[in-house]
Amino acid sequence: MGVAVRPQDFKGEEAKLILSQFNSITAENVMKMGPIHPIENKFYWKDADEIVDFAQKNKLKVRGHALCWHAQTPRWLYVDQEGKTVSKDVLLKRLENHIDSVVTRYKGKIYAYDVVNEAIDDGQNTYRKSKLYEIAGEDFIAKSFEYAHKADPKAVLFYNDYNTEIPAKREKIYTMLKSLLAKGVPIHGVGLQAHWSINSPTREELEKSIEMFSSLGLQIQFTELDVSVYAGRQGGQLSNGSRKIEEAVFTPEMEQQQLEKYQMIFEVFRKYKKNITGVTFWNLSDKYSWLDGRGRKNYPLLFDKELKPKKAYNAVINF
Ligand code: G3I
Repeated sequence: MGVAVRPQDFKGEEAKLILSQFNSITAENVMKMGPIHPIENKFYWKDADEIVDFAQKNKLKVRGHALCWHAQTPRWLYVDQEGKTVSKDVLLKRLENHIDSVVTRYKGKIYAYDVVNEAIDDGQNTYRKSKLYEIAGEDFIAKSFEYAHKADPKAVLFYNDYNTEIPAKREKIYTMLKSLLAKGVPIHGVGLQAHWSINSPTREELEKSIEMFSSLGLQIQFTELDVSVYAGRQGGQLSNGSRKIEEAVFTPEMEQQQLEKYQMIFEVFRKYKKNITGVTFWNLSDKYSWLDGRGRKNYPLLFDKELKPKKAYNAVINF
C-alpha cells in the first residue's frame, strides 16, 4: 500500500501517518524529468534523494515516477542550441541518457518504475500527439523500456495511464501492450492510475480492465488512486478552468457516496489480489491534494484535513 509524497511530507504528523499506514512511497513530482533534469547536463537530485533516503531509513519501497512523460518535460529535451527541433536520434539519445542516469543512481533502491506515462490518446488517435511522438513516433515507448531495463535489469517496469476503464482507451492500451510484449520489449506491468470519482468507474468496468490486462500476463498496480467527490472523470474539472481554490463543503452525501465507491473498489482489489501487486494513493490526506488545484477544494482521500481516518477508511479496512 503506497502513497505519493512531497519532501515536505516527511516532517511531523504527516511522516507519522505515512509510516503507520503505508509501506511504499512515490514522488508526486520531484522525480519527473522537468524537476530532476532541468538543464541538459545538470541534474537536480536533492528532492528525489530525500524521498529515497526517507524510504531507505524507514524500510519503505519506492516506485519511481516517471521516466518518460510528455508533461513536465524540460524544454531543452526537444531543441538544439538554435532552438530548432532535434532529430529522432538526438531525442532518443537524450532520453537514454536521462533514463540511464536516474535508474543507475537509484539501482537497488527503487524497485519499480512508471517508465512511460500516458502515451495513449483520449480521443480518436491511437497515440497521444505529444512532442515525443511527433519527433520519435511510437518508438520512444519501446526504447524507454529498453533503456530502463539495461540500467537495472531487476527493476519492475510499468506502462502507466489513466481512464483505463473507458472501453475505447482500454482497448488501445491493451493492443499497444500486446504488441510491445510480442516484440520482446521488457515490460512487466501496467499501472492503472485510478483517478476516479464518486460515480466512476463501475464495478463492471473495473473488473473488465483487471481481467483484460491480466490476460496479457502483466502484473497490475493501481498507481494514483483517489476518489473525487465531484461527478465526472478525472476529478471533474470546473469548466471555467479557474486555478483559484474555492472552499467547498464535504457534505454528508459526498461522504456516503465516496465511502460506497471506496468500498466497492477495495472489494474488487481483494477479489483480484493475485493479479494486483500494489495500490498507491495519490497524496496523503485531504489537507492537500493535486485536485485542489482544479478550482475547488476536493476531499478525495482516506484521511481528512486533520489527517484523521475518514469513515471511508473504516469501510476499506473492515471486511
Ligand atoms: O514547482 C513549481 C513551483 O516552483 C511554482 O511556484 C508553482 C506555482 O504554480 O508551480 C510549481 O509546479 C507545480 C507542480 O505541480 C509542483 O507543485 C505545477 O505548476 C503543477 O502543474 C504540478 O502539478 C502536478 C501535475 O502532475 C503536473 O502535471 C501535480 O502536483 C501532480 O499531482 C500531477 O500528477 C500527475 C501524475 O504525475 C501523472 N498522472 C496524473 C497526475 C495528476 O495530474
